[in-house]
Amino acid sequence: MQAIVITRPGDAEVLELRDVPQPEPVADQIRVRVHATALNRADLLQRQGGYAAPLGAPQDIPGLEFAGEIDAIGPQVASLRPGQRVFGIVGGGAYAEYLITTERMALPIPDNLDWIEAAAVPEVFMTAHDALLQAAFVPGERVLVHAVGSGVGTAAVQLIRAMGGTSYGTARSATKLDRAASLGLDVGLPADTWPMDLDARGDNVDVALDFVGSSYLANNLKALAYRGRLVLIGLMGGAIAEVDLSVILRNRLHIVGTVLRSRPLEEKLAVTRAFARQVIPLLARGAVRPVVDRVFELHAAAEAHRYMERNANFGKIVLQVV
Ligand SMILES: NC(=O)c1ccc[n+]([C@@H]2O[C@H](COP(=O)([O-])OP(=O)(O)OC[C@H]3O[C@@H](n4cnc5c(N)ncnc54)[C@H](OP(=O)(O)O)[C@@H]3O)[C@@H](O)[C@H]2O)c1
Repeated sequence: MQAIVITRPGDAEVLELRDVPQPEPVADQIRVRVHATALNRADLLQRQGGYAAPLGAPQDIPGLEFAGEIDAIGPQVASLRPGQRVFGIVGGGAYAEYLITTERMALPIPDNLDWIEAAAVPEVFMTAHDALLQAAFVPGERVLVHAVGSGVGTAAVQLIRAMGGTSYGTARSATKLDRAASLGLDVGLPADTWPMDLDARGDNVDVALDFVGSSYLANNLKALAYRGRLVLIGLMGGAIAEVDLSVILRNRLHIVGTVLRSRPLEEKLAVTRAFARQVIPLLARGAVRPVVDRVFELHAAAEAHRYMERNANFGKIVLQVV
């Protein structure tokens, strides 16, 4: 089969389309003929040599999510059959014509989504949904979402609306804020003035979902209401910060850090099940939808990586495999 291989750590040109052995499913595994996959920031870090794939996942083929058709099954697979349309997250290996996953990590694709749309769902909707669960979000709460035009941000805004919350979103471009408004963003805030804007409105938030990290930390803590929760999902703006801890004590704040890829299988299964229970019905009735920015063919993965590095995308960058 053909797959995109990270030939050595480095810039996008280290990604090459190569012939590699086709994997065989054993036990409770299924083999999926991948029709589409999508990019994640983690793919860029992995390509640069800074984020190794977890044990058991292909080490040199990136790709954390897939949409495709079951092509072969292991002898212990009970609930899935060849020919079914499935999507899900994997620890790696999705930039390929075929991948292996376990039966319990693959979910049937709602009929209203095509391959491209389905590939734009798993990682960002599971991450955003899981972050809201970890924040113990309840309907009626206000949630601040940074980098609201990111894949995870566009999923979060829609989930907050569908789950009965009010969303505040930041972005570094007015165009992304306008586009987020069309997804249901209640209050758009420019990234360079958001702390002042929030203050001027007299607003604070119950939950903040942050991908930026150090440069936003102090202002995130100030923005939180009494017993507010900050979920650290990404560190695109840096990992080292100095803050006034007294605000955490006084306002009884919670700070939660999260990663998805390196969690043990049982925890990923719990995330997958919660997504199946609460998010797939929303997708199936169109209450939330995948946001596809651009589609590249698999062989153009390097170009797709460069595009993500320019921070130009609003929503997901998808790789079409067949
Ligand atoms: N913890 C987990 O399990 C998990 C899972 C998935 C993703 N993530 C993280 O979630 C974040 C978003 O991922 P994604 O795939 O959705 O990203 P994405 O679609 O590539 O979007 C990222 C956006 O963030 C903004 N941005 C980039 N650098 C920034 C900075 N220094 N300060 C402020 N804004 C910045 C840019 O938009 P603007 O135009 O607004 O600047 C950029 O387009 C990443 O940090 C990723 O690692 C974490």
